[in-house]
Amino acid sequence: MITHKVILGMALSIVFVSSPSFGSPGTGRHNVKKATAAKSVFGKMADGTTIDLFSLTNAGGTTAKLISYGASLESLSVPDRNGNFNDVVLGFDDLKEYLGEHPYFGATIGRVANRIAKGKFTLGGKEYSLAINNAPNTLHGGKEGFSRKVWKGEIIGGSAGASVRFTYVSPDGEEGYPGTLKATVVYTLTDQNALQIKYTASVDKTTIVNLTNHSYFNLAGSGSILNHVLYLNADKYTPVDSTLIPTGEIAPVRGTPFDFTAATAIGARISQVAGDPGGYDHNFVLNGPAGRLKLAARVSEPTSGRQVEMWTTEPGVQFYSGNFLDGTNKGKQGAIYAKHGGFCLEAQHFPDSVNHANFPSTILRPGSLYRQQTVYKFSTK
Ligand code: BGC
Repeated sequence: MITHKVILGMALSIVFVSSPSFGSPGTGRHNVKKATAAKSVFGKMADGTTIDLFSLTNAGGTTAKLISYGASLESLSVPDRNGNFNDVVLGFDDLKEYLGEHPYFGATIGRVANRIAKGKFTLGGKEYSLAINNAPNTLHGGKEGFSRKVWKGEIIGGSAGASVRFTYVSPDGEEGYPGTLKATVVYTLTDQNALQIKYTASVDKTTIVNLTNHSYFNLAGSGSILNHVLYLNADKYTPVDSTLIPTGEIAPVRGTPFDFTAATAIGARISQVAGDPGGYDHNFVLNGPAGRLKLAARVSEPTSGRQVEMWTTEPGVQFYSGNFLDGTNKGKQGAIYAKHGGFCLEAQHFPDSVNHANFPSTILRPGSLYRQQTVYKFSTK
């Protein structure tokens, strides 16, 4: 049962949400805190548009902060095995930094996550051209993509916990994609320390869509992620060319440095992954049926004991080991994000799917609803 109490202040509104799993009469757990959700001002765009900051805190004290710029996850503070909280995602304290150059910290990516070869695709007999923003390809939606749009955000209650719903309407032809696309992203923080992300989208003309979240995680809170131990529920992956476009092959991971079917330190074989700058930046083909929530990955960090499991309905996940981080972005509280300072697990349809008939389709037609659900579940060991 959810109840809301809204306190309106000058620029601040707070919603208290009673936790469905704690503090209910008769449980005897009277001292347990309740989940809260609050909205405040994060900053202003040059034209005066306000960027909102939403803070979701669960009964155990875990906090997720989201901003309406790019519907981005700005911070996520979770306990270690001794109950000490640390922010485990990369990002910035100020809107100014989000407006500058950065590699999609925490952002919602759309319309089409990952790369489209040479920025070209054909749909219904018509060829479409997109901006080449990662030469010679299009990356993460194009010039601006959904990660640089101002979304409308609102706090909503739900049976799972406190939520923020972001909506964005992408006009027909935006970034070269056909159709007016209505997208929603709902973030929910549960009392079980799970951050659930649910996406929906609909369109009025046949188009392509592939939404994801681009959070960079560091379960220690700082330093290199090469000591983090990764399990991937993937027997296959999609090899890429030198521009990171899939060759079309769906190859077994067995006997390669891409085999994480037995949990292995990220750094153990990373030097064997060729390329410039090298390191993991690959789409893994998840075992099990697409469309149903399944375990995709589990990552643990030995010092803090923090662990995250990623569950998703998507057929693939881009495991990116932060190879292009180079210390140029000054992060929260002056943090320097150096190479391998964070990793991403981006739930997705495969890169460049629209140009590969053997990959699961990213085509969305009028009358159909696009749905994607991904959950990051935190615990300690
Ligand atoms: C891509 C990387 C890219 C990073 C930041 C990842 O999703 O796979 O190649 O550098 O995003 O742009």
